[in-house]
Amino acid sequence: MKSFFKKKVQRNWHVKSGQPLTEMDKLIMRYQNKGHLVPSRELIKTSEQIEGIRAAGVVNTGVLDAVAAEIKAGMSTLEIDNLVYQYTMDHHATPACLGYEGFPKSCCTSVNEVVCHGIPNEDEILEEGDIINVDCTTILNGYFADASRMFVIGETTPEKQKLVDVAWECLKIGEEMAKPYCFVGDLGNAIAKHAHKNGFTIVRDLCGHGTGNAFHEEPDVEHYGRKGTGMLLVPGMVFTIEPMVNMGDWRVFVDEEDGWTVVSEDELPSAQWEHTFLMTETGVEVLTH
Ligand code: MF3
Ligand code: CO
Ligand code: CO
Repeated sequence: MKSFFKKKVQRNWHVKSGQPLTEMDKLIMRYQNKGHLVPSRELIKTSEQIEGIRAAGVVNTGVLDAVAAEIKAGMSTLEIDNLVYQYTMDHHATPACLGYEGFPKSCCTSVNEVVCHGIPNEDEILEEGDIINVDCTTILNGYFADASRMFVIGETTPEKQKLVDVAWECLKIGEEMAKPYCFVGDLGNAIAKHAHKNGFTIVRDLCGHGTGNAFHEEPDVEHYGRKGTGMLLVPGMVFTIEPMVNMGDWRVFVDEEDGWTVVSEDELPSAQWEHTFLMTETGVEVLTH
């Protein structure tokens, strides 16, 4: 018997009335009609917006380069934050984190078992062997660029070094997989496979995201999942890939006291790298290096 319940298709793509269909319209509508999640028109950036985001990316890269030049054992995570704030302001930009949903500092500093959203603190002193993620987002002329890097303080253990390296490889794999008219799930699938192959796990509670005109836009960019699922990625979309790779279990918890710091449940180390990407006709372009 025929079911009365038709699978609900999210209709995000609307053609411009009175205008002929473009090749892009036709392609996107074909995926939409098959039941895939497709972007709305607002997620496809204009060339003016892309230039704005690109410029924000240049400042954001400068911020992380400034951190790279200074970061060392004996430094507090608050000193990193001060550096981020100062560099950003000197370049006529604003740190997006500062005041974002009440976040108190200009960047996130996540040491060892902290997965992400660590709050810079003057009492947290970096030690030889620590691994730390510094995550910065810059707003320039209203446009956003978001990236993070891992830093190894001096020399660390081979296991922690491998975690840092595999997290980087996961980001690179996401970048290579990202082709026009692929799905977010294609990236996530390949990223998770690489982490698992190396004996690590992928955090599931947090994901990458569209960005550029706002801090966090659609789509959710999950770093695990099935091929052919999640939103269709088309030229002009700007989004982050930012896999969080855990040495032990993938589960995490949020520090109850500060409401921000995300920690691995088993308190084993975690690593993450992030770039902001523009989807082009051939693949992705990194806007944050
Ligand atoms: N930069 C983070 C991201 O990659 C978000 C940090 S939000 C903050 O999406 F409030 F914690 F700063
Ligand atoms: Co970020
Ligand atoms: Co991000």
